[in-house]
Amino acid sequence: MADKTIIITGGAGFIGSHVVRRFVNQYPDYQIINLDKLTYAGNLANLKDIENKPNYRFIKADITNSQQMLDIFTQEQPDGIIHLAAESHVDRSISSPLEFVLTNVVGTVNLLNAARATWKDNYDNHRFYHVSTDEVYGALGKEGMFTEQTAYDPHSPYSASKASSDHFVRAYHDTYGLNTVISNCSNNYGSHHFPEKLIPLAIHNIQHQKPVPIYGKGENIRDWLFVEDHARAIDLIYHQAASGSTYNIGGHNEWTNIDLIRLLCKIMDEKLNRTPGSSAQLITFVTDRAGHDLRYAIDADKLEKDLGWKPSLRLEEGLEKTVDWYLSNQDWLNNVTSGDYQKYYEQQYSGR
Ligand code: NAD
Ligand code: DAU
Repeated sequence: MADKTIIITGGAGFIGSHVVRRFVNQYPDYQIINLDKLTYAGNLANLKDIENKPNYRFIKADITNSQQMLDIFTQEQPDGIIHLAAESHVDRSISSPLEFVLTNVVGTVNLLNAARATWKDNYDNHRFYHVSTDEVYGALGKEGMFTEQTAYDPHSPYSASKASSDHFVRAYHDTYGLNTVISNCSNNYGSHHFPEKLIPLAIHNIQHQKPVPIYGKGENIRDWLFVEDHARAIDLIYHQAASGSTYNIGGHNEWTNIDLIRLLCKIMDEKLNRTPGSSAQLITFVTDRAGHDLRYAIDADKLEKDLGWKPSLRLEEGLEKTVDWYLSNQDWLNNVTSGDYQKYYEQQYSGR
């Protein structure tokens, strides 16, 4: 009998696969269930190294299906859930907002309802962990940082849907007493990141000598965190945070997009034995993202003080590791950039 059964939603995606890997390896006595619909962003190849471990199982399911969620909770009687399944790309939310409402808001409420129904006799020993984003706080000017007290002010359909799901999780804690915890994290990077997002898209384009699209003037600032540091934070928070609490997670690693891409070009020139400066010539400024948030920066002091967490890598180190992973996993990259990806790329970038 497993010590604990934990459902991880979105475990076939970028961050979810790192969280699944960490829990499966770190806790051999737990039963880890990866619940994922396998959308374009979900890929079981992300979990090849752990898929045969006895404490891992995959269930293909859709969080927008309320009955299916209730059936899975009833059948599996999980001790906890770590909820990462979502539509996660801001640009896609601008063209298809309703999908973000369905998956991110309705999907989260379906899971809250399934948890409530299954755990009603003992909320205290069952944890609902909701993984969220710093984008719910809106945009910063040149100064300041997001703390756990910053008022929500989302701007994109994606961040509005995540903000709404956060509010529902808090409402289920305050109204029904569900044992919940929320974390709001900054931009992640690392292996298995789908190449619709800036860093893997740029690695792919530089490798194939294609233009690297930079929105606007490249002056927007993001706070980058190595994905394995995020998974480590989620592990600590899942096990140690108080019910009803919120934690910000961030890298203390602020970079403008243009400086980040220049650094990436330099690393790629070195790794691919290209003339220094040649990859930077691929940088192409294109029409800005609508409603583009200027700056995100996370104050993660509470997480450090309460649980002793700190990021382990600076961007320079993590980016080099990330480039190495992509260059030695060409099959992975070729698989995810064939088929529908080409159509998406055309729609997103032609005429920009
Ligand atoms: P991702 O897009 O790589 O993965 C999302 C996963 O969710 C995929 O495996 C997909 O198949 C699954 N999924 C989507 N719809 C589903 C549905 N209806 N039912 C079941 N599964 C479904 O996303 P990611 O970048 O790994 O982000 C994971 C979570 O972390 C999201 O909730 C996101 O908001 C949050 N987050 C992401 C970042 C980041 O930098 N990527 C930062 C902070 C927070
Ligand atoms: O802050 C956390 C968020 O980080 C997560 O909640 C989201 O799920 C995740 O996608 C990410 O959102 P961003 O919009 O910041 O990530 P993205 O990689 O799409 O873009 C990073 C920055 O680069 C942003 O300022 C937009 C810019 N950009 C992006 C793309 C795809 C470009 O300049 N060109 C591009 O082609």
